[in-house]
Amino acid sequence: MMHSAIFDTAAISGIRLQNRLIRSATHESMAESSGAPSAAHEKLYTDLARGGAGAVITGYAGVQQDGRTSYPGMLMMHDDALIPAYRQLTDTVHRYDTPIILQLAHCGRQTRSAITGMKTVAPSAMKDLIFNEERPLELGENAIETIISNFAAAAGRAVKAGFDGVQIHMAHGYLLAEFLSGYTNRRRDRWGGSTSNKFRIVSEIFRRIREEQGDFPVLAKINGFDHRRGGMRRDEAVRVAMLLEASGCSAIEVSSGTIEEGLSIMRGPRFPSEALLACHFRFRSIPEPLKKAVGPLLRAAMPSPKPYRNYNIETAKAIKEAVSIPVIAVGGIHTLEEISAALESGAADFVSMSRPFIIERDIVRKMREGRQTASRCIMCNYCAIMVEGGPLRCWHGKLPRKRAEAAVQQ
Ligand SMILES: Cc1cc2nc3c(=O)[nH]c(=O)nc-3n(C[C@H](O)[C@H](O)[C@H](O)COP(=O)(O)O)c2cc1C
Repeated sequence: MMHSAIFDTAAISGIRLQNRLIRSATHESMAESSGAPSAAHEKLYTDLARGGAGAVITGYAGVQQDGRTSYPGMLMMHDDALIPAYRQLTDTVHRYDTPIILQLAHCGRQTRSAITGMKTVAPSAMKDLIFNEERPLELGENAIETIISNFAAAAGRAVKAGFDGVQIHMAHGYLLAEFLSGYTNRRRDRWGGSTSNKFRIVSEIFRRIREEQGDFPVLAKINGFDHRRGGMRRDEAVRVAMLLEASGCSAIEVSSGTIEEGLSIMRGPRFPSEALLACHFRFRSIPEPLKKAVGPLLRAAMPSPKPYRNYNIETAKAIKEAVSIPVIAVGGIHTLEEISAALESGAADFVSMSRPFIIERDIVRKMREGRQTASRCIMCNYCAIMVEGGPLRCWHGKLPRKRAEAAVQQ
């Protein structure tokens, strides 16, 4: 595929994209306390649309209160009252002929009851190493049915709000990934054990959305693998992808990793210890003199797996060989060469990016116009840590002292 083919129009289940480069879901810590999108969201998504993104996938939006993230400013889609604010947002983005897809999520055990005000829940009552303030509650039958209903209801609201589709977040160790991974799902009932049992909650969500919303596009973001013992591996991810296709999924975005594993979802050569010590709830209250000693320990305890680039491409390829719906590859694909290779090699139909859009909202237009061939992102991952303290931005591996202090106080 020539570079130019990257910039040809393409489609996902009837959604028309101006090119094959998608803004991958990125939590922005920008929502109103109600969970409604803010003026900052409108500006961000407008910039992304004007800047040439083929489609915008929003930051994750919660389907119910106990599934909120522990970061501030999460988008929510749990209440009909939010529909008008989202309608205004989608109308604005559509002015730039750009589709917008709402990512729906439940954070499962990867959140904190100190923030949600509710017990954390998970398929099995296993503590998370990062969020281990408490042992999560093992979900019962009724609670699982409620979650399925809430995903379907949130998708219904997305239809009313004018979204072009929804994406179900079943990656990165959040609730649905916890069901799919044998590491976090130790159940012996119909929701655990075999791949089809672990997948049951997902198939029920798709069945409900299909029943209620017909052929409205529903995408999925999955983990091709995690690094947990007995967890998700490529072969099983391929089976999950086939089950998704059979469930009426419109496209599969292939990612990997969990938060517990450290820097595996968004990898990088530089460990963000400075940002962690400034902003992360576990480390920010360590006395200043101690922080100097803790930094190297953190670095040693949480190395980023390698490679730092293109790390989901082999799994995307295996999945693409097994399904006929579009496959989207994400994860360290930051240069025009890498994008071309992902598409040309037949590993993916689309490429999505997150961090390159944080540093340059108009990266796609710059690439299309031949002004730039690579993202300026240095993969420092400060963006991913500092959203705990305030709105998403690029820090480019440096915390100005005043900013860092301000972030901690928020
Ligand atoms: C600040 C930040 C927030 C993120 N929030 C989400 C999210 O809400 N949902 C999601 O599926 N992935 C999220 N991700 C992961 C990205 O979508 C993407 O999978 C990952 O960063 C690797 O892609 P990249 O190399 O293009 O950044 C986030 C990543 C970053 C850096």
